Amino acid sequence: MTGDRPTGRLHIGHYVGSLRRRVELQNAGDYKKMFVFIADAQALTDNMDNPEKVRQNVIEVALDYLACGLDPEKVTLFIQSQIPELCELSFYYMDLVSVSRLQRNPTVKTEIQMRGFESSIPVGFFTYPISQAADITAFKATTVPTGEDQKPMIEQATEIVRRFNYIYGETLVEPAILLPDNAACLRLPGTDGKAKMSKSLGNCIYLSETADEVQKKVMSMYTDPEHIHVSDPGHLEGNTVFTYLDAFCRPEHFERYLPDYPNLDELKAHYQRGGLGDMKVKRFLNNILQEELEPIRQRRKEFEKDIPAIYDMLHRGCEDARAVAADTLDDVRRAMKINYFDDAELIAEQAKRFKESAE
Ligand code: TRP
Repeated sequence: MTGDRPTGRLHIGHYVGSLRRRVELQNAGDYKKMFVFIADAQALTDNMDNPEKVRQNVIEVALDYLACGLDPEKVTLFIQSQIPELCELSFYYMDLVSVSRLQRNPTVKTEIQMRGFESSIPVGFFTYPISQAADITAFKATTVPTGEDQKPMIEQATEIVRRFNYIYGETLVEPAILLPDNAACLRLPGTDGKAKMSKSLGNCIYLSETADEVQKKVMSMYTDPEHIHVSDPGHLEGNTVFTYLDAFCRPEHFERYLPDYPNLDELKAHYQRGGLGDMKVKRFLNNILQEELEPIRQRRKEFEKDIPAIYDMLHRGCEDARAVAADTLDDVRRAMKINYFDDAELIAEQAKRFKESAE
């Protein structure tokens, strides 16, 4: 179970960080069920004044999912806000988390700083780790494939599960995060070399961008500022072009686009020795990215032709997801002893007790 906030189109950081993996997992078929959702309610926790932005991006994210190869026949795709059970679950989890624990959540902490929320944090934003725990546990998820930035959220969810099971009895499933196995994919930097891809910095390469736009961004990417002449030795640390190659390059790319080199290690060694120009490396990266992104762009164009069909698919996904979440809520209500009307034993026992005391 995993998902994304619909605050913009998805970019290649999302792709290597999690999307690519989800499609592999879907096709490997090792999981009985997979859920991928669009976290619109969570997006509203810091976009409450811009509902139109969230609404427009729901379809963008859905298109990006389908374009990447997520298949609604194999994965339940749905929209968070359409599952009221998630709110109910969050409400109960709020009893299990302290204010200071939320304040210590590193993601909440940095996001509060970034957004300048300081003391005016909306309660919904402050408590979104709780709601995210509800997202995950409502589907009894064992595995959450996501970026490294979500680690504190999974930890918080795990704590909630343990506390719930300890107090109310074994009911919920502990989730484990599934991170990319390649360090470059954990946190793909922006094209300007800045730590994170972000729309406001304009340093993202979007999955839906045209070939020309991608090429332009690759050709102006940040490399090594000390690598001025081709003959100068170049540095790899913080060199965005090489970080992207670490994330995207496969051995067969050399045969196709750069047969002078047997592999990435040799290319790096030449760059470090001097004598290898940035432009040559950038052209190589551009070829690789175009090869990876072209089928995604083509599929997106096809899906864009029938938007109503995508809403129908999401609608069905919401119904399926809701049924699963409702089953979990049945278990939760029973464990928390708030299942009054389906507990014949409780009613019989109380009837007996009151009868006895009346006699
Ligand atoms: N926090 C995630 C993001 O910012 C979105 C999200 C919400 C999520 N609930 C989740 C991811 C549950 C994985 C599992 O993109």
